[in-house]
Amino acid sequence: MPDFVLDNDMFNQTVETNGEWIVSRTGIKERRIEQKKYNFEMIGEACAAALNNAGLGPDKIDMIIVSTATPDYSCPSTACLVQNYIKAGAAASFDIAAGCAGFVFALDIADLYITSGRAKNVLAASGDIMSRMTNYFDRGNCVLFGDGAGAAVITAQSSGGGILATCIHCECDGQKPYFVQNPLYSPREIFDKTTKQFKGNAEKIQGSYLTQNGREVMQFVSRATPKALDEVLTKAEKTISDLKYIIVHQANKRIIDHVIEKYRLDPKKVPINIEKYGNMSSATVPVLLHELNEAKELRKGDLIALVGFGAGLAYGAALIQW
Ligand SMILES: CC(C)(COP(=O)(O)OP(=O)(O)OC[C@H]1O[C@@H](n2cnc3c(N)ncnc32)[C@H](O)[C@@H]1OP(=O)(O)O)[C@@H](O)C(=O)NCCC(=O)NCCS
Repeated sequence: MPDFVLDNDMFNQTVETNGEWIVSRTGIKERRIEQKKYNFEMIGEACAAALNNAGLGPDKIDMIIVSTATPDYSCPSTACLVQNYIKAGAAASFDIAAGCAGFVFALDIADLYITSGRAKNVLAASGDIMSRMTNYFDRGNCVLFGDGAGAAVITAQSSGGGILATCIHCECDGQKPYFVQNPLYSPREIFDKTTKQFKGNAEKIQGSYLTQNGREVMQFVSRATPKALDEVLTKAEKTISDLKYIIVHQANKRIIDHVIEKYRLDPKKVPINIEKYGNMSSATVPVLLHELNEAKELRKGDLIALVGFGAGLAYGAALIQW
């Protein structure tokens, strides 16, 4: 996690807002901002820590999958930069773009390579410097996002457990051009919805800021989250009561409350850390998993569901046995 803490009061420098509004609508009190490092360095540090926890050298890694929406370069991939940073030899390294659902997409790919025998050790990492695509003059968006990275080593084993089931999907209505209908996007050029033309003035706003229709995204998330969760439970022939934890992408506390309410769960089963970090895109799931592990909350054999959703509109879940 980056060191710099951006708390709710600091937004008053650019927009009219207040901490009470932000906490009541999102649950977020503060977030971290990366001011110096490249994204590959932040992700590389998370990968090095994951390798250390796994007791594995970087030369043992066959594949590095990085999920990010804020790559340092268009080319080469952030994963290749991470590979160089951690000195991971000849690993096959590539990025995936699945928005905030990226970590469960990466787990799905890792699972396929491992169960097919084509890889033994896969590093799945997510990291985003969301502050570099956030418009701090847009109060509906800027309060939501923070920076951070997380990583996991997925290793072939013969003793069962591990990744029991995954599902990944994307939603679209196929009716209108994608840039008109999409409620969550970061344009390279500005599409003017009135004239239906590209203005091509992205440079005037110094980059491509993330734009979204928060209400529409909230509706998507409310239907996608239980759908993905139910799908992996059915595939693995488990029920919600078999789960020790459900780690839901930390986009808004209200989404987590919705899951607790819908399944009538003990809130302890759906952990939350959004108050400290905000929405770090696909990094929220591995970071929360790591915090539970550090707090010694995870025991061998525990069943944990991971659920992600975001730009695409992409969504998915993974059911893992620790
Ligand atoms: C963005 C979000 C927090 C907005 O909450 P909301 O309850 O839908 O609020 P609205 O957008 O309807 O705005 C309500 C009012 O608050 C205002 N408002 C928006 N941001 C504000 C802020 N930071 N401070 C104060 N007021 C704010 C709006 O201008 C609006 O005012 P108006 O009624 O006078 O027009 C919420 O829609 C959300 O979290 N959506 C999901 C977004 C998400 O998770 N995206 C990522 C998915 S990976």
